[in-house]
Amino acid sequence: MHQKTIDEAKKRLFGGELVIFPTETVYGIGGNAINENAIKLIYQVKKRPFNNPLICHFPNIREIEKNFILKEKDYELANTFWPGPLTLILEKNKESKITPILSNNQNLVGCRIPDNEIAINLLSQLDFPIAAPSANIATKTSVTSIKDLDNNLKKNFYIDGGASVLGLESTVIQTTKEGCKILRLGSLTIEEIKDKFNHYNIEIINSTVSPGNQLKHYSPKKHVRINVKNINENEALLNFGKNKLISNIKHLNLSIDENLLEASHNFYNYLNILDQSNCSGIAVVPIPNHGLGKTINDRLKRATYNDDK
Ligand code: TXA
Ligand code: MG
Repeated sequence: MHQKTIDEAKKRLFGGELVIFPTETVYGIGGNAINENAIKLIYQVKKRPFNNPLICHFPNIREIEKNFILKEKDYELANTFWPGPLTLILEKNKESKITPILSNNQNLVGCRIPDNEIAINLLSQLDFPIAAPSANIATKTSVTSIKDLDNNLKKNFYIDGGASVLGLESTVIQTTKEGCKILRLGSLTIEEIKDKFNHYNIEIINSTVSPGNQLKHYSPKKHVRINVKNINENEALLNFGKNKLISNIKHLNLSIDENLLEASHNFYNYLNILDQSNCSGIAVVPIPNHGLGKTINDRLKRATYNDDK
């Protein structure tokens, strides 16, 4: 990535504008976390309600320590999984200048260090954190490549960093005395956490408790049907593994080899492609409910939620 592009992004962020940038999970739409107007703009362009807090992105743990209080287990997780798809909910300290509206006036804020060269390069040249939700309109699918970006959001300055390596959002975690609570499933799996910290008591907080865990979320425009065994006429097919299912409209296979990492990487991009075909709806075959499959199933369930019901 050219320094010229980074310089332009810096200029925009300093001026209170938004910048769309790549991370290893999904693209983010970022603003200066200490500039109240920039943060308001994020909520406005995403059509996101203010009660759904934003994540702050940092280049390293020292910058996080300037703004937050980290407990022992926070350090354990941070030192193991950062940079990477972990968002830790941390308590702000008194010195923090992060604007309160970013977290709906609460003292607890989601923080992460992304594992992406462009993001880290940009973050380390700023003297403020970047607040960034996923670069999509609220309730719609996240974006893992610039070609899937919404036309209105594309009016913002953006940095094309190619396809997101992981393709599913970060895992949102709050540590507890005994271990941690998972507020949103994501690219960091429960298995990976248990593998490193088998003494942790891990609680999964289901659905609506985390503000961002609304029932309707991560949703394409077309109707989605999950765990299908057969395909209806004019339905597009999102397939996984080897089987004989076909669609008369269009089909894509998340991973013929049943590789969940490959499936995660393809997930939003394939949903978007099928969404744009002239199908009547999207049928999705069962996805194994472990590791990243658990996160894919969480997203699919929210995509099927019908708010007319
Ligand atoms: O991978 C990611 O996390 C991407 C990239 C851009 O970093 N960002 C992202 O942000 O997915 P967003 O805003 O779309 O999702 C953040 C999630 C939401 O579900 C939100 O409710 C939750 O994190 N969250 C943020 N702050 C929180 C807090 N203080 N307490 C509880 N949940 C919080
Ligand atoms: Mg999002």
